[in-house]
Amino acid sequence: MATANKLRVAAIGDLHVMEDSTAPYRDLFTEMSANADVAVLCGDLTNFGKTSEAEILAEDIRHCAIPVLGVLGNHDYECGQPEEVARILHEAGMTVLGEQAQEIDGVGFAGVKGFLGGYGRGELMPFGEPLIKAFVDEAMSEARKLENQLRQLRTERSVAVLHYSPVVDTIQGEPPAIFQYLGSQRLCEPIDRFDHVKAVVHGHAHHGTYEGKTPRGIPVYNVAQFVCREAFGRPYAVLEI
Ligand SMILES: [Fe+2]
Ligand SMILES: [Fe+2]
Repeated sequence: MATANKLRVAAIGDLHVMEDSTAPYRDLFTEMSANADVAVLCGDLTNFGKTSEAEILAEDIRHCAIPVLGVLGNHDYECGQPEEVARILHEAGMTVLGEQAQEIDGVGFAGVKGFLGGYGRGELMPFGEPLIKAFVDEAMSEARKLENQLRQLRTERSVAVLHYSPVVDTIQGEPPAIFQYLGSQRLCEPIDRFDHVKAVVHGHAHHGTYEGKTPRGIPVYNVAQFVCREAFGRPYAVLEI
């Protein structure tokens, strides 16, 4: 049960809903509604970003008894219509974060998909060809969007919601050769700037590690369903914020 004044957040990433599935998350959302106060979805909600996939998930979201919010992932961009995926999910009641932070029972939520680019010595720098600069710019732009939302919040506690990982800790288990495609440490900068951020959730690294932290020590959780299943025997995590 929840500790007094704490918000129970059920978080899951990488749902990868396919067009041939029937109510794939309906029972899970019912379970999450019994165990938490809010459901957070950390991207790759659909497998290819198809309208039919989004509509299947939307039906399950309509049956979820607690507020649903979250971000899209790279898979939701595959068909070139992420706005349409977001619109369908929004119409079903999900808050798709991106520009505007959200507050639920005194806890703030700020979220972006994020982007890739690597960490530490492996971080891609905006040098040389215009395409490289544009690539790095995309990661910086996502970090800025996150910062703007975190700045909007007046809550004492908040959660940053991402698809890509801001840290290396939670992608351990993946092949090191692909680390730079799993996230960007540029996402840590806004997170570490605000005292109210109490936790970060992300997905994308299906074979990563559940728990890590930012340079300032903010806990980061990889809630990709496969990682949660490994850690808890169920495909989502419950955090008390
Ligand atoms: Fe995924
Ligand atoms: Fe992904």
